[in-house]
Amino acid sequence: MKFFIDSADPEQIKKYWDLGIIDGVTTNPTLATKVGRPFRDLVLEIFAIVDGPISLEVLSKDYENILKEARSLSLLHKNVVVKIPMIPDGIRAVKVLSSENIKTNVTLVFSPAQALLAAKVGATYVSPFLGRLDDIGENSLNMLKEIIAIYDKYNFATNVLAASIRSARQVEEVAIAGADVVTIPPEILETLYKHPLTDKGIEKFLADYQQSGMDPLIKIS
Ligand code: E4P
Repeated sequence: MKFFIDSADPEQIKKYWDLGIIDGVTTNPTLATKVGRPFRDLVLEIFAIVDGPISLEVLSKDYENILKEARSLSLLHKNVVVKIPMIPDGIRAVKVLSSENIKTNVTLVFSPAQALLAAKVGATYVSPFLGRLDDIGENSLNMLKEIIAIYDKYNFATNVLAASIRSARQVEEVAIAGADVVTIPPEILETLYKHPLTDKGIEKFLADYQQSGMDPLIKIS
């Protein structure tokens, strides 16, 4: 299972890349504006940090311009995955981009039917948004499980990328369900490390050893 970081902030991305737990990056126009620096600068920095798939979203909404924008984005770097919204013009563009071997990520997916369309046109990734669906009182985990079941049944090659993640538990749930990838915001990545018994356990082990007065096996100067 792959972990992507859901962020456009090179500083945060570098932190988790260096920790060795992320395989790629997803951005969106909202995340791009949050950092407060020109997006082009951020993207160039991200290319230099991460050797893995980096999703960059088109701003266009009509077929011709989506195609133009997607082709230009794909030329920026070999790792670019073009993120395209789940609309008829977007799906039409993904079909063409797939035939040109340009990697795509169909975004803003909220139903198995939408995910089926993305797979049929050969999207590289499909991004079901879990948190936003839960926000309106629906069961996002069921949606994800149904998408995975459909893809498995027909051997679709599209990777299921669980997005809009709000908790460490949700990361566990999408992993159990069999998502190929989960994109995780930095604040949730941080919580994956945490358990109160881990901290308590470290303190106890160290205190016991120090109290014994024994020399350490290895001395770190
Ligand atoms: C990822 O590709 C999405 O852009 C992101 O997960 C959206 O998350 P949000 O619903 O927290 O904005």
